[in-house]
Amino acid sequence: MSIDPAKFRQVLGHFPTGVTVVTATKADGTPVGLTIGSFTSVSLDPPLVGFLPMVDSDRWADIDGAGSFCVNILGADQGELCWRFAKTSIEQPFEGVGWQPSALTGSPVLDGAIAWIDCRIEHVVEAGDHVFVLGRVLELEHAAPEHDPNPLLFFRGKLGDFRLQA
Ligand SMILES: Cc1cc2nc3c(=O)[nH]c(=O)nc-3n(C[C@H](O)[C@H](O)[C@H](O)COP(=O)(O)O)c2cc1C
Repeated sequence: MSIDPAKFRQVLGHFPTGVTVVTATKADGTPVGLTIGSFTSVSLDPPLVGFLPMVDSDRWADIDGAGSFCVNILGADQGELCWRFAKTSIEQPFEGVGWQPSALTGSPVLDGAIAWIDCRIEHVVEAGDHVFVLGRVLELEHAAPEHDPNPLLFFRGKLGDFRLQA
């Protein structure tokens, strides 16, 4: 049975995700970043996380070349960054964006991210038109609880934020 691609996207769009920007630093020092919703926690012992970029993505090729990456979990007020790092038409997505290199891999840690996870690429597995990237967690941090972090969420093609049930 063949699956209609539009229906596939529509149905899978009903699964809400958080929004991350996966960053790395190329050998020439240029930062690279890509919006990723397919981020997931994988294993605690050893500490592993994963995400799925498109197999032919130029920015994934840059991250793969770097051998390491940092996952930046975006806050509810960072919707602009979500679109900025998703559009290939924006050639300099880091222009005007505040960031610091992580201590261990030098990957950009974006200002205002509610959490970040710095990783070394452990394994890359073919997965259809995507690849599954498994990262070994080297260092991680989250925003201070008193900042009351609220995540950016993606659902049916639109951005929103998290609300506690009454
Ligand atoms: C909220 C959101 C989540 C996304 N998640 C993924 C993802 O998990 N994997 C992926 O390959 N692309 C994802 N994208 C698309 C990429 O950010 C990017 O637009 C696409 O890969 C094209 O750029 P490239 O060819 O340079 O990679 C997402 C886009 C948005 C807006």
